[in-house]
Amino acid sequence: MKVAWVVTGAGHFLKECLEIVEKNKDKIDLFLSCAGIEVIKMYKYGDFLERRDINIVKDYKSSSPSCGAFAAGRYDLLVIAPATSNTVAKCALGIADSLPSNLFSQAGKSKVPILVLPSDVSPRIESLTPTGRKIMVYPRPIDLQHLRTLKTFPGVGVANDLRELKDCLRFYL
Ligand SMILES: Cc1cc2nc3c(=O)[nH]c(=O)nc-3n(C[C@H](O)[C@H](O)[C@H](O)COP(=O)(O)O)c2cc1C
Repeated sequence: MKVAWVVTGAGHFLKECLEIVEKNKDKIDLFLSCAGIEVIKMYKYGDFLERRDINIVKDYKSSSPSCGAFAAGRYDLLVIAPATSNTVAKCALGIADSLPSNLFSQAGKSKVPILVLPSDVSPRIESLTPTGRKIMVYPRPIDLQHLRTLKTFPGVGVANDLRELKDCLRFYL
C-alpha cells in the first residue's frame, strides 16, 4: 500500500500528523502546501523538512505536475491531514489551484479514496499557538458548511478527530 499524505498550513493536529507520517515513512510520500512549510517551521518542526529518510515530494509549480501519480495508479489513498479551512473550502467547491486542492481533485478523478482530517472540525476548538499558548478558535458557519459539503463527496472520508483518522488508516498503514 502506498499513501500520498498532504500537510497543509494548519497548526491544529500538526504534531500528531507528523508523528503518524514519521512512524509509517516507508509507506508514505509527503506533500506540503506552501503554507504547510511555513507553519511547520513556525511550530519548530523545521528539522522534519530536512529528513532524508522521508520522501517529501517537492512540487511548487502552478499546475502541480506531481498529481499525475494518481492517474498512473501510484497511490492507494490520499490523506489530507491536517487540512486547513482554506483547503477544505477549495476542495468542497471544486477549486484546484494549490498543491493540496490539485491532489484532492486528481485523486477524485482517478477514483483513489481520500481521507481528510480538517483542523476546524467543530464550532469551538482549543488549539495551541507556535509558542505553546492555549487559544480558542471558533470556525465560522461557512467553514462548517464546506465541511458538510465535503462529507457528501463519494470516495471521501472525513475524520472528526485523530482517533477516527487512525482507525481509517489501519487498513492502509
Ligand atoms: C501559526 C499558524 C497556524 C495556523 N493554523 C491554522 C489552522 O489550524 N487551521 C486553519 O484553517 N488555518 C490555519 N492557519 C492559516 C493557514 O495557514 C492559511 O489559511 C493558509 O493560507 C492555508 O493554505 P493551505 O490551505 O494551502 O495550506 C494557520 C496560520 C498560521 C500562521
